[in-house]
Amino acid sequence: MQLTDPKGRMHTITLEAGKAFHTHKGILQHDDLIGGPEGVVVTIGVTQYLALRPLLSDFVLSMPRGAQVVYPKDAGQVVQMADIFPGAHVVEAGVGSGALSMSLLRAVGDTGRLSSYERREDFATIAQANVERFFGGPHPAWTVTVGDLQEALDETDVDRVVLDMLAPWETLDAVARALRPGGLICCYVATTTQLSTTVEALRAHGSFMEPTSWESMVRGWHVEGLAVRPEHRMVGHTGFLCTSRRLADGVEPPLRRRRPSKGMYGEPATESQAPTDEPFRPELP
Ligand SMILES: C[S@@+](CC[C@H](N)C(=O)[O-])C[C@H]1O[C@@H](n2cnc3c(N)ncnc32)[C@H](O)[C@@H]1O
Repeated sequence: MQLTDPKGRMHTITLEAGKAFHTHKGILQHDDLIGGPEGVVVTIGVTQYLALRPLLSDFVLSMPRGAQVVYPKDAGQVVQMADIFPGAHVVEAGVGSGALSMSLLRAVGDTGRLSSYERREDFATIAQANVERFFGGPHPAWTVTVGDLQEALDETDVDRVVLDMLAPWETLDAVARALRPGGLICCYVATTTQLSTTVEALRAHGSFMEPTSWESMVRGWHVEGLAVRPEHRMVGHTGFLCTSRRLADGVEPPLRRRRPSKGMYGEPATESQAPTDEPFRPELP
């Protein structure tokens, strides 16, 4: 359960019969909540807390972390734009703290298959504990392999590969062997240099379609009476996403219709090399 105090501070606890939750304000007996409805108010000392089962997005931000987690706004983008569907066979690396694994598990469901690879055993252990705590036990669709994806990956006919790691470009041979034609690779990277290296490696590989890259920004709004405005603070940057589809073997990627600007691939820039990109004009529906 998630207990939220009047200042919005949250505590996440796993209810167990006979146990108690202690704060410096007092004690809450778990039995007071077990078997009861959620959405109720409980009092510890003189402080009132709202008691609710945590949403996945709340849980991942409050759970123990090994590595930095994928933020819920990006996990949502991954599930939608990487087209993770019930019953899908998905490969993921690295596992980190297991935040993205949880969104992927929810999307593939009990009939799907999520094979996750993590090179650090200590992170894999933290992630497994987080996933089991959230789902209330081991998830039937999940297996975790400790090792480098590029060495350990030995699966075929994979529908989707989702990579959140430092150097996704190093894994492309292994990913291309695993993905079925029409399958999709989705990479989440933090910096522009990683994005650039990933996209150029996908283009150069020959097994993938022209990649698509983007980032998402979410700005909360303060809505109170006449004071309706954007929140003063926002998370300005998390990471970039990039997707590409696996071509069938032997298929030449269709010629790109993009026109690179002069200097784009590192030729010396001169004053005459003004950008040749057309201004952006959104397509009308
Ligand atoms: C940022 S964390 C992943 C966070 C995770 N997506 C989450 O939401 O909790 C990146 C992880 O990738 C792992 N990693 C990096 N390269 C890897 C590789 N080649 N194979 C397997 N794991 C790798 C790292 O050990 C690290 O735990």
